[in-house]
Amino acid sequence: MTENVNHDLKVDYTRDERARQHFVMGMRNHVLNNVAVNLRTVYQQKVEPAFVRAKKRKPKSGPEIHKAMKGETLFKYYSNLRCNTQESVWRSVIPGVEREVDDVKRRAQVLSQSTEKAHGTLEVDPKFVVPRYVAELDVHLMPGNYHEEHISGDVSQGAIYDNGLSVFAMGLLGPRMEDITQSVSTYFQLRNPDFKPKRILDMGCTVGHSTLPWKDRYPEAEVIGVDVGAPMVRYAHARAQNYGVTATFAQKDAEFTGYDDESFDIIYSCMFLHEVPGKNIRNILKEAHRMLKPGGVMIHYELPPNDLMSPYDGFYLDWDAYYNKEPFYKPFRDMSPIDECARAGFSKKSFFNYIAPSMSFYGLDALKKAANEDKAATDSSVGRFADGVKWFTFGAWKN
Ligand SMILES: C[S@@+](CC[C@H](N)C(=O)[O-])C[C@H]1O[C@@H](n2cnc3c(N)ncnc32)[C@H](O)[C@@H]1O
Repeated sequence: MTENVNHDLKVDYTRDERARQHFVMGMRNHVLNNVAVNLRTVYQQKVEPAFVRAKKRKPKSGPEIHKAMKGETLFKYYSNLRCNTQESVWRSVIPGVEREVDDVKRRAQVLSQSTEKAHGTLEVDPKFVVPRYVAELDVHLMPGNYHEEHISGDVSQGAIYDNGLSVFAMGLLGPRMEDITQSVSTYFQLRNPDFKPKRILDMGCTVGHSTLPWKDRYPEAEVIGVDVGAPMVRYAHARAQNYGVTATFAQKDAEFTGYDDESFDIIYSCMFLHEVPGKNIRNILKEAHRMLKPGGVMIHYELPPNDLMSPYDGFYLDWDAYYNKEPFYKPFRDMSPIDECARAGFSKKSFFNYIAPSMSFYGLDALKKAANEDKAATDSSVGRFADGVKWFTFGAWKN
C-alpha cells in the first residue's frame, strides 16, 4: 500500500483502492517468491539437463538460458503474472492521483514556496528538451514515464512514481523509501570517516529518495538533485521542504549539466544508469569526471553486472530487459563498471565496489561490520539473489 508516502503530498486513497494495492502487493510477493522458486526448479530439473544432453555442456550465458526457457509453460505463466502485476502497480495508484491532480499540485506549490522548515531551491527549465530515450518510453511500464505533464506545473508523474514505488517495494525500502541511499551512503561514510564533502550531486534523482540521505550524512554539505523530468524535480523539492531538508532540485540532463569543472566532492546516482543507453552512460561518466574536484568521488548504486553472476541469475535479472520495457537494462549489465570508469578518465586503481547491507533490514551494526570487513563484490550472492537485502555499489576516486 502507500503508507511510505508519509508527507503532505500524500493521496487520500479510498478503501477499495487500498484493497486493490494490498492485493497487488500480495500477487507480486507470490510471483517473486513462490513462482520464481518453482521456475528455478524447472530449470535445474528439466531445462538444464535437456540442454546438457543436446549440447554436451551447460549453458554459458543468460541469453542461452532465456532461449531454452522461453517455451516452458511455467516461464510463460511467470512472465504473464509479472507483467500483469507490474501494470497493476501503476493502475492501483493512478486513479487517486488523477482525482487529486489539482490539489497535489497546489500542495506542492505551497510547500515549495514555504520557508518554514527548509530553504531549498527549485529550478525548472521551460525550454528543456527531454532526451528521446525518456520521452518515447514508458519505462518499467509506468504510463507517462518521468516527464509527462497533464496540466501546467504538474507533479502527477512524481506522485505516481512515489505511490507506485510504495506498492512495488512491499516495505523493503524503509519508512521513506530511502533505504538504498541511506545504506550505501552510510557504508561509504564509515569507510571514509575523514572525507568531508562540501558539495554533492545526485544524478537522476526522481522524487529525491536518493538525494535526501546525503544531507543526513553530511548536514553541512550543499546537496543537489538533477533530473530530466520537470514533474519529478517539482515533487522532489516539495517533498524535501516538507521533510525539512534543504536541497536544490534542478531540471537538467546529467550529460550536460552546465555545472563548473571541479565543483563537486561526491557525484552519486541510484538506480539510474541501467535506464540510460550505453553511449549516454559514457557521456554521463565523463561529465561526472569533469565536475569532480581532484580527490572527489563518483558513486553508483546499481544492478550487479552479469560477469559477477551465474548464467541463471543473469537470465533471471535480465527478464526486465525483455518484458518490462527496460531496454537498456541488459546492455548496462553486460558492461564492465571498471572499464567504463577508466574510459571516463578515472584510474583503474581508484575503482572500488561494495555490497552494503540494507540499513532498515539489518541495522547500523551490520553496516559497520560489513564496512570493517570490506567485503568486495566477488561472488554471485548479490542483487535479488542475495541472502536478504543488500545493495551493490561501484565507483571511483578522481586523482
Ligand atoms: C529509476 S529512476 C532513479 C531513481 C532515483 N534515483 C531513486 O533512487 O529513487 C531514473 C531517473 O533518471 C532520470 N533520467 C534519465 N535520464 C536522465 C539524464 N540524462 N539526466 C538526468 N536524469 C535522467 C529519469 O527521469 C528518472 O527520474
